[in-house]
Amino acid sequence: MSRLTIQTLLFFAVQISTVLAGGIHVINFRSPNLFPEGLAWDPTGQRFLVGSLRHRTISGVSDTGIVKTLISDPFLPENVTILGLAVDPRNNRVLAAVHALAPLPPFNALAAYDLSSRRRLFLSPLPSEGEHQRAIANDVAVDFEGNAYVTNAAGNYIWKVNKKGEASTLSKSARFTEHPVLIDAEYSFCGLNGVVYNGKGYLLVVQTNTGKMFKVDTEDGVARDVVLNEDLVGADGVALRSDGVVLVVSLKRVWFVKSDDGWGRGVVFDRIELDDEGFPTSVVVGQRERAYVLHGHIVKGTLGNQWESFKIEEVRSGKEKRASENVWILVMMVGLGFAYFLFWRFQMKEPLKKMNKKIK
Ligand SMILES: *[C@@H]1O[C@H](CO)[C@@H](O)[C@H](O)[C@H]1NC(C)=O
Repeated sequence: MSRLTIQTLLFFAVQISTVLAGGIHVINFRSPNLFPEGLAWDPTGQRFLVGSLRHRTISGVSDTGIVKTLISDPFLPENVTILGLAVDPRNNRVLAAVHALAPLPPFNALAAYDLSSRRRLFLSPLPSEGEHQRAIANDVAVDFEGNAYVTNAAGNYIWKVNKKGEASTLSKSARFTEHPVLIDAEYSFCGLNGVVYNGKGYLLVVQTNTGKMFKVDTEDGVARDVVLNEDLVGADGVALRSDGVVLVVSLKRVWFVKSDDGWGRGVVFDRIELDDEGFPTSVVVGQRERAYVLHGHIVKGTLGNQWESFKIEEVRSGKEKRASENVWILVMMVGLGFAYFLFWRFQMKEPLKKMNKKIK
C-alpha cells in the first residue's frame, strides 16, 4: 500500500512539474488577408471571434487554430472594417463596431448578429452629424441588459446603443479632452479606445494618446479619471478578469492593473513586453480565465500588403505565475515529505514484525 502511495505521489510530482513547465498557449491560424483587429471570446461556442480589415466578416477561431467564417455581411458598405467585438452571452449575440477608414465614405455603425442563426439583428448608424472630425467607432462593450457602449476614438466620446438598436450619445465628458497627448503624431488622433463593462454600473475606458483610464457611469455618463501609477500610453484593447484584474494592451506591452477602491485608483502591478511585429491590438479573457492577445498584422493590410498567418497568444503575468508556482512548490514539498514518512514506516515494518516474532 505504501509503495503505491509513494508511486502516486511521485506521479503527482511529475504532473506538477509538467504544469510548471507548461507553455504559453499559442494559436496560429491562417486566413488570406483577414487582418483582424477585434477579438472576443464566445463562451457558448468555446471559440474566439475575430473581425477583419475589409472582408465584412466575423470568424470563429478554435483553440487549435481552425478558422470558420461565422458571419458574412455583404449588406455592409464595401471594404468597411469590423473593429471592436463584444459577445452578449445573455442574448446570444455578437456586437461589432463597424467603421469605414478614409478614403472610403464615412460610415460608423454598431451591428448585432444572432450567434445561432447568424442573422443580423440590427445595424445602427452612430450619430456624429455636424462634427468636423471624422468619427471612428472603435471598441464596444455590453452590459447585463444588452446595452452596448461604443467608443469614438476621434471624437473622444461614447455612444450607447440599447438592446433594440437605438443609438444615442452616452458621454461627452470634459474629462476626455483635458489631458495632454503623449503619443507620436502617427497615432495622436486616437483617443478613447478600449472599453469594458465592469458589472457594477460603470465602464472602464482607456485613451490611446494620453494613456489615461476613465470610469464612466452607464446611467448618466459621468466620467472620472482613474488615478494610475503610470500612464498607459498607446493603450488599445482592454479585458476584465473575473477576479477584477484589468489587462490593457498596446502595440508593445500588456499592463496588469488592479484596484482596491472600485477604480478610483488603479495600480499597474505587472507588465509584459510584446513583439510589435504582429501589431497586437486586442486582449480578451477566454477559457479558465486565461488572457489572450490578438496579433492581426493590420498595419500590413492598411499598407496594401498580402498576409495570411495570424496569431492569438496567451499572456501571463510573471509575478502571478511566480506566486502560483510557490504554492505548487509548497504542495510538492509537503507531498514529498509525506511520501518519505510513509516510506520510512514501510521500512520499519519488517524489522518490527521480526522483533515481535522473536519476543513471542
Ligand atoms: C474595395 O477594395 C477593393 C480591393 O482593394 C477595390 O478594388 C475596390 O475598389 C474597393 N471598393 C471601394 C468602394 O473602395
